[in-house]
Amino acid sequence: MPNGFPLEQCCAVITGASSGLGAEFARQLAPRAEVLVLVARRAEALEGVKRELSGTRTKVLCCVSDLATDAGRSDLVAFLGANGVKPNLIINNAGMGDYGSFASSSTEKTRMQIELNITALTMLTHAVLPLLQRPGGILNVSSLASTLPMPELAVYAASKAYVTSFSEALAIELAPKGITVSCVCPGPTPTNFSKTAKRTDGGDTNRDGQGLLRIPPSQVVHEALGALQAGRPCVFPGWGVAIVSRVFRLMPRGIMRWLLKRRAGKE
Ligand SMILES: NC(=O)c1ccc[n+]([C@@H]2O[C@H](COP(=O)([O-])OP(=O)(O)OC[C@H]3O[C@@H](n4cnc5c(N)ncnc54)[C@H](OP(=O)(O)O)[C@@H]3O)[C@@H](O)[C@H]2O)c1
Repeated sequence: MPNGFPLEQCCAVITGASSGLGAEFARQLAPRAEVLVLVARRAEALEGVKRELSGTRTKVLCCVSDLATDAGRSDLVAFLGANGVKPNLIINNAGMGDYGSFASSSTEKTRMQIELNITALTMLTHAVLPLLQRPGGILNVSSLASTLPMPELAVYAASKAYVTSFSEALAIELAPKGITVSCVCPGPTPTNFSKTAKRTDGGDTNRDGQGLLRIPPSQVVHEALGALQAGRPCVFPGWGVAIVSRVFRLMPRGIMRWLLKRRAGKE
């Protein structure tokens, strides 16, 4: 197994870098990185993050691209080539959720979740792998939601179960090639995530009561980068999330179903 990914002088591609965890990855990497490529759809928000980093000596490039489309993903790969970027780290962070029942979900939002959370993460990793310099790193942003089926967040939780499983498999496959793969599974974190996941028709689920598990983006990112550096395949940031994830993963399936049904019955 590789010993971990050294962050010093890295050349990193960060998807979903215009807000939340992605912007925080850029902030924490900037003092150490050589080059950062920030990717998202909102040009102005990306430029805002770039301006924040202007005090560092890191070269920051912004790539405006809709990663939920084949064209957007190809544009990013072409952007790297056109700018002579030779990445040795990709942080697959862009992702979104949808609060509410599957039956009443919009086809468009469901498709976008699968395209972004699963297809973009997989196909970008595939496209960047041949370009990845050594030592190389891949950091995938999954979720605590990956550890259990979640009624009223069903597609999101299933998509993140994919991310965790895929990452753990790649960690073993790519270790002999000098590439460290880590996956971070945050619990509830204050970002724009909830705003995007909420439904405009008010048909979403009340997600209050998660306060005990909430930790700031800075801590999530700090622990994620620490795991990548140490060569740990999976990290659950924050002690609360770490304990809860352990309970979820060890819980017999029958008990889990009973608890999930009880919770659904209360809403
Ligand atoms: N916050 C939480 O509670 C939490 C918990 C567990 C896991 N996560 C995961 O953390 C990751 C980051 O989310 P966040 O919490 O930081 O939420 P966020 O603030 O909403 O950030 C999402 C980022 O993804 C980008 N994005 C969305 N759709 C895109 C598209 N089609 N193409 C390119 N970029 C796109 C957004 O930028 P544009 O809108 O500019 O495109 C934004 O930069 C996600 O994978 C999420 O599932 C979050």
